Amino acid sequence: MASLPPIVDHSRIDTPVRLVDHYGRAIRYLRLSVTDRCDFRCTYCMAEDMTFLPRKDVLSLEECLRVVRAFVTLGVDKVRLTGGEPLVRKNIVWLMEQVTALPGVRELVLTTNGSQLAKMAQEIRAAGVRRINISIDTLNAERFRAITRTGDLAKVLAGIDAALAAGFARIKLNTVMLRGVNDDEFEALVAFAIGRGIDISFIEEMPLGDTDYVRADTFMSQDEVLPRLQARFGLVASDADSGGPARYWQVPGSATQVGFISPHSHNFCDRCNRVRVTATGDLFPCLGQNDMLPLLPLLRDPASGDDALQAAIRHSMGIKPLGHDFDVQRPTPKVVRFMSVTGG
Ligand code: 5AD
Ligand code: SF4
Repeated sequence: MASLPPIVDHSRIDTPVRLVDHYGRAIRYLRLSVTDRCDFRCTYCMAEDMTFLPRKDVLSLEECLRVVRAFVTLGVDKVRLTGGEPLVRKNIVWLMEQVTALPGVRELVLTTNGSQLAKMAQEIRAAGVRRINISIDTLNAERFRAITRTGDLAKVLAGIDAALAAGFARIKLNTVMLRGVNDDEFEALVAFAIGRGIDISFIEEMPLGDTDYVRADTFMSQDEVLPRLQARFGLVASDADSGGPARYWQVPGSATQVGFISPHSHNFCDRCNRVRVTATGDLFPCLGQNDMLPLLPLLRDPASGDDALQAAIRHSMGIKPLGHDFDVQRPTPKVVRFMSVTGG
């Protein structure tokens, strides 16, 4: 990877940036996994016979809030709740309410598999969540069951409708591109998004954890899929910037933007503005590396206060690596954690 010029994001001057890593990247965005559990078992994300963490090892909701508060004090202004499936966590709406009420939080967003949205969309919106990402890899019920092993497509479709009715500022679908699995459906998925006036992002699969797939076979690049979608929908490059890794194209005459998250073909590490905290309180400065800093011992030490927590988080800036080095050709992945461990 090429060396990076120091870049500090001074575009928002409302809250001071206090987290800047060795490469000059300002950290404004925390992705917090609130559970490793999920009601699905997506083939690319989990083993079939997952053993989940003992509950005592998982952060309580109060501990989650303490972590978020520490990051917000240090200048983080955007928080995403992820999992596992965040909506299977009991009382998760309480955490949402608390986080949106924290001064300094500009935006609380959510990544979900959609299975609980039909019943929860309204209360999530009312708790102040502005935008949601819903994962959907296929519109075919049988295929959906095969990919998720346990999922019911009808429930997720009902969840998308409920989210539309609840009035989120933006709804985005996330689709992992998998050759031989769902690569004949990308056009249909974009048409589905256009029909509902929502966005969709296509994700290059990341080699996280050992799955049943031979990743070198299933891997698909943006460079293959984008021209296909451009030919069909006349996509126009957009300068919309979510501050994240996705690059967007507009579908002319519609509200829909098509995004690509392409860690392999279009590396975005130089713009990285985020860190992740797992459900057990491990702070991972990079999704694609193994370095981490456990926060749980600090959180559970009665003698340790918020100053120590903030000091640890600042310290983690020193171990934030330049970037991932994903390689789908490796027979076994370098990062042995599944996506469900670190959070999507
Ligand atoms: N590579 C890319 N995306 C993944 N997801 C889960 N595992 C992987 C992986 N190995 C996606 C899910 C969801 C988001 C949280 O991450 O499909 O959209
Ligand atoms: Fe659950 Fe999302 Fe992983 Fe699928 S990708 S098993 S929905 S956490």
